[in-house]
Amino acid sequence: MKKIVIAIDGFSSTGKSTIAKQLAKKLGYIYVDTGAMYRAVTLFSMQKGFITETKFDKELLIASLNTIEIGFMFNEELGFSEVILNGLNVEKMIRSLEVSNFVSQVAEVSEVRRKLVEQQQKMGEEKGIVMDGRDIGTVVFPNAELKFFINASAETRALRRYDELTKRGDDVTYKSILENVQMRDYIDSTREDSPLIKADDAIEIDNSDLDLNEQFQLIYRIVQKKIEVA
Ligand code: DC
Repeated sequence: MKKIVIAIDGFSSTGKSTIAKQLAKKLGYIYVDTGAMYRAVTLFSMQKGFITETKFDKELLIASLNTIEIGFMFNEELGFSEVILNGLNVEKMIRSLEVSNFVSQVAEVSEVRRKLVEQQQKMGEEKGIVMDGRDIGTVVFPNAELKFFINASAETRALRRYDELTKRGDDVTYKSILENVQMRDYIDSTREDSPLIKADDAIEIDNSDLDLNEQFQLIYRIVQKKIEVA
């Protein structure tokens, strides 16, 4: 069967990665979480002290970009790939609220975007890929055979993220997460370089009232139709 590129974009915590992982597994495709790549660059910037509560030294980050190597390693047990930053598995560290609080600022830097987009495009050369992010259908793969734009209310998304973080033992409040979700929505959709916008040919899905199974069935039906005619 012909392999296609599936682009999944949308606001933060809409469950894009859950859908993307389910689809990739079902189809035997590669799954790439591009948010994790921006998070890894953010973690690197924090570790080097380029970004703190009080400052962000973009120039130093840009000058260090060629020392950042991001890769993915498949975790058999979990069934998906984890992020490797300069040889170290940083999957857990990049999910912290601290990284979430800084990541939109790092993702605004055009030089960072250029480097990561280039790597993402290479990963999709052979097709058979599900990639999620903010600019996949608009910038990374404008010719993707299938594009989804996932949405849900900010409150629903904050609650989902709150459950996820408290379950793994993080000490966070719902209010701080809602604020982070709203702040990232604002920065992600108003930044100059590759803002989060729905591609004209993307299929929009609001999953506020869908459970995981309903959502998967809905999306998988669309994918099957597409693959049949591809
Ligand atoms: O999907 P996520 O929440 O892990 O993404 C983290 C941040 O990275 C998000 O706030 C915006 C940025 N991002 C981006 O600018 N472009 C992408 N393709 C993916 C993520």
